[in-house]
Amino acid sequence: MKREIKTTSDGSKTLFINDLEENYHSHHGALQEAQHVFIDNGLKLLNDYEINILELGFGTGLNVLVTIDEFLKTDKNHVFHYFTIEKYPVQDNEVKDLAYDSLFEGAQFSEIYQKIHTCEWNITTEILPRFYFTKYQCDFFELEKLNLPAIDLVYYDCFGARVQPDLWEKPLFKMVTDTMKKGGLLTTYSSKGSVRRILQELGMHVEKKAGPPGKREMINAVKE
Ligand SMILES: C[S@@+](CC[C@H](N)C(=O)[O-])C[C@H]1O[C@@H](n2cnc3c(N)ncnc32)[C@H](O)[C@@H]1O
Repeated sequence: MKREIKTTSDGSKTLFINDLEENYHSHHGALQEAQHVFIDNGLKLLNDYEINILELGFGTGLNVLVTIDEFLKTDKNHVFHYFTIEKYPVQDNEVKDLAYDSLFEGAQFSEIYQKIHTCEWNITTEILPRFYFTKYQCDFFELEKLNLPAIDLVYYDCFGARVQPDLWEKPLFKMVTDTMKKGGLLTTYSSKGSVRRILQELGMHVEKKAGPPGKREMINAVKE
């Protein structure tokens, strides 16, 4: 499918799929959205020393970078295990043109950006000391086969229900919440009523939060 690079309102870039008319991130600001939904309303709410993160949709790698940026800002000796799933990897030229390494302070981001995109699929790579990264090239519905450890934090970052409705229905949410620890947090940019109801039916405590720029609300769900 044909994709093109677009610049969003905060100056960071995103990918746009022409046929589906779907962006990888909010056109109101890709970086701001990632920071708000996954870091400020996700990672920052956890206090554990060792954190297992599961992301649905590796895509451009922006969520990995905002996570590493936060990891580097903490002065504790955290250990992160970041697992991400992607069926349709982006192309090398797209990685280059998105230039996400330039969004972060520190020369090391250039190497980190390269590493997360060029490291082997399905194998764990130590991107930085104590930051372990595994990207799986498979379908989200193969999650059960991956043998993941119990997950503390889920970044639910699938394309919207308009283009991929099956990714916002109970079977996938069940598979995902089954991987989570009690007390684990799922965060997503969506605020759909049907998603809130499904998560509640699956034993999650659901909370609506203020959304990122351009979006009134988003969802946090904690496994009870
Ligand atoms: C909203 S984008 C993810 C954005 C990503 N987190 C980022 O920061 O770039 C959704 C991602 O899910 C991937 N995807 C779509 N359907 C999938 C499926 N059935 N299994 C695995 N990945 C899928 C897409 O290729 C895309 O990269």
